[in-house]
Amino acid sequence: MDVSLLQQLSLKTARDLEPACGDLSDGEEQVLKARRYSGIFSPSKRGSSESPEAASVPSWSPADSAALYNVPGWGAEYFKASDDGHMLVSPKGEGGPTLDLYALTEQLTAAGLRAPLLFRFLPIVGHRIAKLNAAFAAAIERFEYTGQYAGVFPVKANHDKSLIDAVLEYGAPHDFGLEVGSKAELVMVMARLAGTGRRGVNLVCNGFKDAEYMELVLHCRELGMNAMVVMEQYSELDLLLSAARRLGVRPSIGIRAKLTTRHAGHWGSTSGDKAKFGLRAREIVAAVNALADEGMLDCLNLLHFHVGSQITNIRMVKEVMREASFLYAELVQMGAAMRFIDCGGGLAVDYDGSFTDSHASMSYTLQHYANDVVSAVQEVCIQRGIAPPTIITESGRALASHASVLVFDVLTTLECLHEKRVEQEEVVESIEIRDDKPLTKQLRAAARSGKGKFLLMTFKEVFDNITADAFALREAYNDASYFKDEGVRAFKLGVLSLEERAQVDMMFDAACERIREVAREADLPLPDALRPDAVPHTKMYHVNLSVFRSAVDSWAIQQLFPIVPIHRLEEEPTVPATLADLTCDSDGKVDRFINPRGGDPLPALPLHPLRLGEKYYLAVFLTGVYQEVMGSIHNMFGSLNTVVVREAGGSQAGAGLSVEPAVVQGCAPAPVGEAPQLHLMTDDASSASSASLAALEGGMEADSADTASHAPASSAAIAAAAAAAADVHDGSPGVPDGAEAPAFMQDSGHESYASGGSGGFAAFGGVCACGGGSASGLVLPSLQLAGYEVQEVVPGETVGQVLSRANHDAGEMLRSVGAAAAAAVAAGDLPPELGQRLLAAYTARMQGYTYMA
Ligand SMILES: Cc1ncc(COP(=O)(O)O)c(C=O)c1O
Repeated sequence: MDVSLLQQLSLKTARDLEPACGDLSDGEEQVLKARRYSGIFSPSKRGSSESPEAASVPSWSPADSAALYNVPGWGAEYFKASDDGHMLVSPKGEGGPTLDLYALTEQLTAAGLRAPLLFRFLPIVGHRIAKLNAAFAAAIERFEYTGQYAGVFPVKANHDKSLIDAVLEYGAPHDFGLEVGSKAELVMVMARLAGTGRRGVNLVCNGFKDAEYMELVLHCRELGMNAMVVMEQYSELDLLLSAARRLGVRPSIGIRAKLTTRHAGHWGSTSGDKAKFGLRAREIVAAVNALADEGMLDCLNLLHFHVGSQITNIRMVKEVMREASFLYAELVQMGAAMRFIDCGGGLAVDYDGSFTDSHASMSYTLQHYANDVVSAVQEVCIQRGIAPPTIITESGRALASHASVLVFDVLTTLECLHEKRVEQEEVVESIEIRDDKPLTKQLRAAARSGKGKFLLMTFKEVFDNITADAFALREAYNDASYFKDEGVRAFKLGVLSLEERAQVDMMFDAACERIREVAREADLPLPDALRPDAVPHTKMYHVNLSVFRSAVDSWAIQQLFPIVPIHRLEEEPTVPATLADLTCDSDGKVDRFINPRGGDPLPALPLHPLRLGEKYYLAVFLTGVYQEVMGSIHNMFGSLNTVVVREAGGSQAGAGLSVEPAVVQGCAPAPVGEAPQLHLMTDDASSASSASLAALEGGMEADSADTASHAPASSAAIAAAAAAAADVHDGSPGVPDGAEAPAFMQDSGHESYASGGSGGFAAFGGVCACGGGSASGLVLPSLQLAGYEVQEVVPGETVGQVLSRANHDAGEMLRSVGAAAAAAVAAGDLPPELGQRLLAAYTARMQGYTYMA
């Protein structure tokens, strides 16, 4: 690859961004233009950065990158840029030990764990919980509130087991509970809470309910939890009362109120009269009367409301709290034994770091929020002379967003860009116009030999007319677009071949490029259609990621997430880029980026030019809530290889919750104290699957896993190997009677190792195959993570696993392909070796990661 040509290419792109840049060198000009284009420069860092002179100082530092991407704005205490240009993570916040995200990624990928990688930093959750509680403690003290605060975590925000366990562990000292919104969530939470042995822990039960749901809640009470059923619809009251009678358990009841105060943002439909959930005033009164008739007013203990997520302005909190507090007081005065006021979620996250009212931001602090909640309740309690309730909040976003970081690589190949350019030039050069013959004659001759030739000749004429004159440039562009449209029309009429049409496209692109070049050199204005603001000259970076799987809200509700390179921050990013994901869906892209000033989203993200043979890693931050839960398997991209990081030796919360070794896909953890190594599986198709096939055949024939030595494949052997592989998928190793199971099968295709490390089940405990395992195990050296350890690595879904979600049976599919291959071999249509190779490839892909290698 010709690197200098590449550089020229990117310089050209940058030049196109804005033509008049005085006497700057190419590099300086590029820097300036990329900066201007992205429109996200920190004026404070370089007061004159918008002027050419500023750009003539060719220095750039990680601090500049941090300012450019507004890391201090959204990174809270957890993310910053290091002096050597890497993104750092401080899972325990300011002052805590720090991890180098790029170094960690490099170590893991070098050992065979494929990107994209999802990092889950559990201590961040602990830190957020502590901060939230500290804010409420400060507010309670400040307003001399005699009630208490006891938060719950809404598990719908993220169901991951390690995360829920971390919430319980870190939350225990603060009496933190959980909130559920469905029967399945309740089933999950019941076990998790039972496992803690904490009696009286708050469990708020929301969502649609049936009789089974009601009974489960009552069973939770029997287990000692303070499980409260929140009436979201009036009809639920009967269901609950019948279940309570059946089981002979007295319930604790909450009422969800439909408040009239409306939240203005995207999630505003959760509030107001037309909201989907909650009881209106007259239904509340009816429910109170019904409970009084049943002699159960002592069971009505909680008022619940949730006006929507991501409340960006504190005024909304004040208004909502006032309305809700009076409602609470009324319920007390109607005789209900009220004890809790549950304010729902809504505490926002500053995704763009602008600290404004923008949808991607918030213009208040955690302390403002706590103060306004506490003071509003306090005021009404004093006014009405009632006892202050325990205040519950259900913050999901604010507690867990920061904990997940999604690292992914860019796939765009430089070769393609280079090739495109060369091809374009070749086409232009190949059209010969002879100087010794009049042009009209040549055009006539071209017309006789076909429309394609004619069009290409006329394009050549356009080229000749690109002269240093503003009017000529406009004319040239108009002609080029006219001929391009002609090309399309001619193709539709069937008089232009596909090849000729492609050449017309290339000529058009080359003509536009020439026009830009001349305009820049002669300092002339570009034709309107070529101005950067009309056609943004962003580059599209193809990334190893599915937006629908991992950042679905960026597609579904245009949510913005900070996206930043995790290395090369010491270099100025000079390429304004958009991101295109792996799915074959035109919506699978990111072309709106955070605006550090909180205004409209930016159309491009400044990134670095790619380097040959070097991975370029980016990360999406603040994805810890809703994205994993709502992500779909569009195009069958499955869950990600996930690395769960905890404090070394377990958390310090000491809630009596033991962090169990992860047992993934049937792997048993090795005893504590073994060598601190992680054994991972590769899913390299050729080596892995041939080894597994060899093992399969070894199991059947010679108990040998040595590919080189086993007998040549036969159709029977292929079919048998497929059947054996299918059995492995079915969960029953396919070992013929009397034969010793080969190693591959004994492990069920996965291995699991624990490392020594400092505490309990140590780093890498219970690790299995990563994104589809095979027989070739890899050894990951123990990672030296100051102050932290990897609790577990959870392999992303394999193709087979994703298929099963759509009711496909991987075992049956392997058998079917095996049988077809065996039949082709038996019929002499396929040489046995190729049959075996086909099956090996199919098996490996079935067991492989759904993302790019
Ligand atoms: C009832 C309820 N509580 C809590 C939450 C969590 O909200 P947030 O993530 O904004 O804190 C939600 C989410 O929409 C919800 O519906």
